[in-house]
Amino acid sequence: MRMNDTLPYDFSSGNTNPETYPGEALAAAAARVIPELATALNTYPGKLGHEGLRRLLAARESAREGVEVDPDHIVLTNGSMQGVTLVAETFCEGSGDRVVLEELTYNGTIEAYRALGIEMVGVPVDGNGMRTDRLAETLDEMAREGRPPRFIYTLATYQNPTGAMMPRARRAELLAAAKRHGCLVVEDNCYGDVHYDGEKPPALYALDDYPNQVYIGSLSKIFAPGVRLGYVVAPPPLLDRILARRHDAGPNTLSAAITTEYLGPDLWGHVERANAALRVKRDAMLAALETHLGNQCSWSRPVGGLFIWVRLPDGLDVEALAADAAARGVAFKPGSEYHVAGSEVPFLRLAFGFPDAETIETGIARLGESIHAAMAPAA
Ligand SMILES: Cc1ncc(COP(=O)(O)O)c(C=O)c1O
Repeated sequence: MRMNDTLPYDFSSGNTNPETYPGEALAAAAARVIPELATALNTYPGKLGHEGLRRLLAARESAREGVEVDPDHIVLTNGSMQGVTLVAETFCEGSGDRVVLEELTYNGTIEAYRALGIEMVGVPVDGNGMRTDRLAETLDEMAREGRPPRFIYTLATYQNPTGAMMPRARRAELLAAAKRHGCLVVEDNCYGDVHYDGEKPPALYALDDYPNQVYIGSLSKIFAPGVRLGYVVAPPPLLDRILARRHDAGPNTLSAAITTEYLGPDLWGHVERANAALRVKRDAMLAALETHLGNQCSWSRPVGGLFIWVRLPDGLDVEALAADAAARGVAFKPGSEYHVAGSEVPFLRLAFGFPDAETIETGIARLGESIHAAMAPAA
């Protein structure tokens, strides 16, 4: 069954919050900047893309991570998804190449890497993200087989779908394992800055100057996925290889210019406003889950990102649940979509960024009815 995004209680997709859409400020930014783009829009953008946005993103990364980032080491992409794919096209040489990643990971990456013929080797995930003890074993085993991975792809921060935040010590262990094997690390920080509570450990690239690292960022989740602005940060030898694989004539200048004009003067003000509203939605969904599913399920309490990962009761048929929930107007993502091998997992993922408070309350109540009905003993 296809999850249908026209259902009224749609918790399936990592969309952002229309309530904080800065329509007027964005329109004003566009009106200011478009008349100045005569040259920029009548020429091709080049492989790195809009310089103003690259400077803003370098400043964003430096402010968050406390390290210098060179704007000329940033490649703008069509959303971070293009970065995820471009990195694999660059560093994998052919069908059957292996990549190590969290066993539960972003379904877009799974689909793209499967289409590229990449063999995905999953490492188990717990409440602290990728299990680095198991990563070390996996890398050792792959070295013994003489088939090391092309890279480790990791969502260390606000892991999608579990919401886990990898602690600093584990980040260091991940890097140590990668270094031992001389393995490239690809860190996807798509949810960077969508943060609600507590301390944030540094990104992997900021924790260690191991040069064999590529970092992927995005403006989708903290700003808007419709602008399709993502980026890859890589040091020159890796950067040159990535650029050599880019054949799309570069990223969208208009989108970059308007976004830079809007976000440039007040990036952190925007981040604060967006997160304050998203935190309210996260809490509303957590409260609704407590009310309607407190005695049936357990779930993550994410400190950032846009998802809650719900553990379903044992023995529940997730596909049948999805069909029943859809009949009640509710859409969610079954956990199996995030498993690298597509295995059944007794979880579902709920996205809280887009729906309003009323939709969250009513939709979770309906999901609760659906789960209670599925668990009720047959008459
Ligand atoms: C982990 C992760 N990486 C990358 C992406 C792609 O996002 P975008 O292309 O909009 O930047 C997503 C989107 O949900 C994601 O969850």
